[in-house]
Amino acid sequence: MQATQLPEKKPIALVTGASRGIGAGIASRLAREGYHVILNYGSNEEKARELQTRIRAEGGAADLCQFNVADSAQVNEKFEWIAKTFGRLSVLVNNAGITIDGLLIRMKDEDLEKVLSVDLKGAIYCTRAAANQMMRERKGSIIQISSVIGEMGNAGQSAYSAAKAGLIGFSKSVAKELASRQVRVNVVTPGFIVTDMTGVLTEAQKEDILRTVPLGFLGEPEDIASLVSFLASPASRYITGQVIGVNGGMYM
Ligand SMILES: NC(=O)c1ccc[n+]([C@@H]2O[C@H](COP(=O)([O-])OP(=O)(O)OC[C@H]3O[C@@H](n4cnc5c(N)ncnc54)[C@H](OP(=O)(O)O)[C@@H]3O)[C@@H](O)[C@H]2O)c1
Repeated sequence: MQATQLPEKKPIALVTGASRGIGAGIASRLAREGYHVILNYGSNEEKARELQTRIRAEGGAADLCQFNVADSAQVNEKFEWIAKTFGRLSVLVNNAGITIDGLLIRMKDEDLEKVLSVDLKGAIYCTRAAANQMMRERKGSIIQISSVIGEMGNAGQSAYSAAKAGLIGFSKSVAKELASRQVRVNVVTPGFIVTDMTGVLTEAQKEDILRTVPLGFLGEPEDIASLVSFLASPASRYITGQVIGVNGGMYM
């Protein structure tokens, strides 16, 4: 008698801020590559649901999980729910992020707090919750979406660059802490990528930015998704604690 072939369990990948932009691009790509993706979003349920429907229509596996990455109690509760409901995480992509731009001398305390809470503390809370699960599995890949601005700075984005540079230092430390358990932590630093976040730029601002990009064009979410897919996979098993730019050459 032939043994019944059980469907292989897909590895679980959580992408924060997956309702739009780079996160949506990463989630679609990971789903196409056979991950069961958990789509986190902050407030945009409609967009997240649209993405889930699209992924399922293409034969992929996707579920939604709303939480505010900046709320550590919510993060812990939702990560436990994910592990109980779907299984322990294999991949975490910390992509959720916001910008509140302005010159330092006019920076409001509450804006600084918001940017650091979402862009830095949010990624730290999620990394801590995922590390707990991955260390027990003795495998995992955590990918942080930082920014070229965290590497080179930008006038008017000091809070954002502080958060994104902080994420780099944090990730290198955690990469050292988790390496003996075969959990890898790497940082992707996108340059200017066409999404809602850069949609607020004027044509003149875009022209100025383009002059600083040697390859001469703005990136797409898929450009980030390609690297994330590699860093998630066993093909990158010997890579940890690295910061990798996807920026058309604007920072070398
Ligand atoms: N676009 C660029 O040029 C660029 C360049 C360098 C780095 N990055 C980084 O790449 C990441 C994605 O950027 P993007 O351009 O795709 O941004 P985006 O289009 O503005 O999308 C941001 C995503 O983050 C989610 N989010 C925001 N705050 C959240 C919170 N507190 N909790 C959970 N989710 C939250 C949003 O969810 P809801 O809409 O559901 O609230 C949305 O899905 C960010 O970390 C950004 O800093 C972007």
